[in-house]
Amino acid sequence: MPVTSTQIMVTKQMSTKDFSRCRVSGREEHIESLHKIYNFVCQGLGRRVDQRQEETSVAIIGGSSGTGKSTLIKQFHDDLREKSQLPEGPCMPFFIQGKFDELVGADPFSAIVQAFSSFAEDIMQRDTEELERIRSCIQKQLGAEAALLTSVVPLLKVVIDCEDESVMNGSKENAMNKLKYIFHTFVGAVSTAQQPVIMFLDDLQWCDLASLDLILALLTGLDMKYFMFIGCYRSDEVEPDGDLLRCFEVVTTIQPMARIEVTNLSKDKLNLLLLHTLYREDEGGIMELTEVIYKKTSGNIFHSIQILEELQRKKRVTFSPETSQWEWDLDDKTTVKLLSDSVVEAVMGKISHKRPDLQCVLVLAAHTRSGIDVDTLCQLTVVNGRFIPREELLPMLGSAVADGLLVSTVGSRTYRFAHDRIQEAGEYEVSACARRVSTFVLTV
Ligand SMILES: Nc1ncnc2c1ncn2[C@@H]1O[C@H](COP(=O)(O)OP(=O)(O)OP(=O)(O)O)[C@@H](O)[C@H]1O
Ligand SMILES: [Mg+2]
Repeated sequence: MPVTSTQIMVTKQMSTKDFSRCRVSGREEHIESLHKIYNFVCQGLGRRVDQRQEETSVAIIGGSSGTGKSTLIKQFHDDLREKSQLPEGPCMPFFIQGKFDELVGADPFSAIVQAFSSFAEDIMQRDTEELERIRSCIQKQLGAEAALLTSVVPLLKVVIDCEDESVMNGSKENAMNKLKYIFHTFVGAVSTAQQPVIMFLDDLQWCDLASLDLILALLTGLDMKYFMFIGCYRSDEVEPDGDLLRCFEVVTTIQPMARIEVTNLSKDKLNLLLLHTLYREDEGGIMELTEVIYKKTSGNIFHSIQILEELQRKKRVTFSPETSQWEWDLDDKTTVKLLSDSVVEAVMGKISHKRPDLQCVLVLAAHTRSGIDVDTLCQLTVVNGRFIPREELLPMLGSAVADGLLVSTVGSRTYRFAHDRIQEAGEYEVSACARRVSTFVLTV
């Protein structure tokens, strides 16, 4: 029987080696909890009264690195978007998000500025009527003070009419108080029953003190009926008596917080994840592979996916064109010994299999701040005494995106690492890369 183009497409999709794009699974209960809180907020049950209230509008997600905290929130966000696209579906809330970075710890408010910039980007996509509604709300609530916001978040000029940026005057404490007031009033003004605001701040373990102060003001301030806050942090990387946990304690004196701990997957849940990832249907048949991966990763999702890719690189897991299935050849004892003990080691292995000039680009990018644009990379990357021209660099970066190492927003020329651990692996790869090809690696 002739093979149809649909069959070829399905086989191609099944044989993809980028396992990190696998379907999100095993977190249904947590996603459900987030939807419940969001429904409260839609009913105006966010922060509102001048005393401790029983309902919560705050979800704090803890867990070790690679357990899937950020992915959980991405899934929740995707669900909301999907629902909003249904005929007669609810409006899409303003989902504003930012991520703290280990490398930019010294930059105050980095994630908060990102979040409010993402609000400005969102509003630019909406129609003029909506833009006018928001503009007049802000004008009414904040008046001339609104201009101060643009000195911290320049992108907000799209919704704030001001000629010049205002400058914060007075003492540091006064300036901070003013900022808290302005951010709080701004969020209160733009969030409505039809369009609540969800603020998601990731990697709170790297949050600076000034940002924490601002977050606290947002979570404890009144009249935030339609505001939901989600924070993720690596719970094993903060001090028990540190600033972050103390901030959470203060919030709980005002309203309860939903605390979700994202843990490693059980062996059975990992088995299901692998089953979906490898397009298999026989739960029992895949257990042999699950056992080997589980032994190495204890069910940490990110590590498990990297190990699966490593098994594939080592030709222990292969896609058979004859049976159109993934198959494996494992000798439990020797295979486990061959595999990386950590995510960073596994990703280093992945990078070391790339062509040498791409390795150098990745190493260079890893030593920059969280994002790097193509032009800067062109000016900095010298491999074997030659600058890599843009027309060679672009497809290389494209292949790193396809391999799940980098991500870039559509139409943007800026790339960033798909995960902090991948960037970390790139940093460690530097000596190996310098050995392999003669290159100058500049740190910016
Ligand atoms: N529920 C899931 N189902 C399938 N794959 C997942 C799931 N959760 C996470 N992953 C995969 O694991 C990778 C790491 O997950 P994620 O970045 O969400 O971890 P994290 O807990 O936020 O880690 P970190 O604290 O280091 O930021 C993701 O890129 C994704 O490929
Ligand atoms: Mg994360």
